[in-house]
Amino acid sequence: MKIEENYSLLPHNTFHLQANARFFIEYNSVGELVEVLALPWIKEYPVFHIGGGSNLLFKGDYKGVILHSSVKGMEKIGEDEESVLVKVGSGEVWDDVVAFTVEAGWYGAENLSLIPGETGAAAVQNIGAYGIELKDIVDSVEAVERSTGKIRIFNNAECEYAYRESIFKKELKDQYIITHVVLRLQKKQQFHLEYGNIQSELAKYDTVTLTNVRQTIIAIRESKLPDTDKLGNAGSFFMNPYVALPKYLNLKQEYPQMPHYPVSDDLVKVPAAWLIEQCGWKGREWGGAGVHDKQCLVLVNRGGALASDIVDLAANIQTSVKEKFDIDITPEVIYI
Ligand code: EPU
Repeated sequence: MKIEENYSLLPHNTFHLQANARFFIEYNSVGELVEVLALPWIKEYPVFHIGGGSNLLFKGDYKGVILHSSVKGMEKIGEDEESVLVKVGSGEVWDDVVAFTVEAGWYGAENLSLIPGETGAAAVQNIGAYGIELKDIVDSVEAVERSTGKIRIFNNAECEYAYRESIFKKELKDQYIITHVVLRLQKKQQFHLEYGNIQSELAKYDTVTLTNVRQTIIAIRESKLPDTDKLGNAGSFFMNPYVALPKYLNLKQEYPQMPHYPVSDDLVKVPAAWLIEQCGWKGREWGGAGVHDKQCLVLVNRGGALASDIVDLAANIQTSVKEKFDIDITPEVIYI
């Protein structure tokens, strides 16, 4: 394991904000993680576990211990006629996992191509894109209990997945550290191509194959979402809000073009990007920060942004959406 003191978190957050951690510990195996959790001095500090840092905003230095998984491995551990089980280490870069499954010819992960971040965080966050969420392909999750060092397996239902939500963000917040994720992928062709413009983009290819779907998703993402290496950002900054049906119907009279997706009999999801754009934020600059000009849900570090620029910008966007639509939008990004 690697233990660093007064460690710069710059390479560990895609907003490219400068902040130091009092301690930074990276572990390579479940055994090492158990050792780390048993270190006598660690209990004196707050502990925060990061993944790829693609959904975080460090508001300042972290006066505790930042943990990071370097648990690797992608391995087929079982199969039946229909599907395969693939066990993945929490420290694997998520898109490498998608590339591996596509290469192997297994269906299920391709719509989640190019989502930044690492596998452990993906399973906490229930990442999603283009009509698929991680929960759709998770068989089980292996985690270590922080207080005891004991390993526990959570089946899919026990993870209590919902939109960008899981038990690891709610009842069991800060209690378990995910070390492995077991994915269940399909051997027989099955695609999910209903979302947005996937079909029309796919028409560029002669045939619909796993590789072509992956390339299409990558092209769509690259056309809308800024490359974190070039322009600091954390993907969607806000979640898409759920709006009660009567309220949506009222708003629809005033804004007939408002997009929406049914969630249940009495709830719809409205794209936060649309609400933000209607409030006039598209492409606006705010200190060193700004709103991306191709996707309003993405706040960017234009270079030299302070964390406070981004925090203020986000708060102002929330206020204008509240004033114009009486809708609360909540950050998906976690402030630390
Ligand atoms: N729209 C606007 N203005 C914009 C962008 C979008 O009005 O600047 C409207 C359009 O009407 C569009 C609708 O919003 O049809 C939805 O846009 P898009 O398909 O780009 O998706 P999104 O709702 O903005 C969500 C996820 C993304 C994911 C995409 C595609 C959340 C918070 N975000 O964005 O996830 O890639 O769908 O599935 O659910 C992320 O979480 O970091 C992320 C990038």
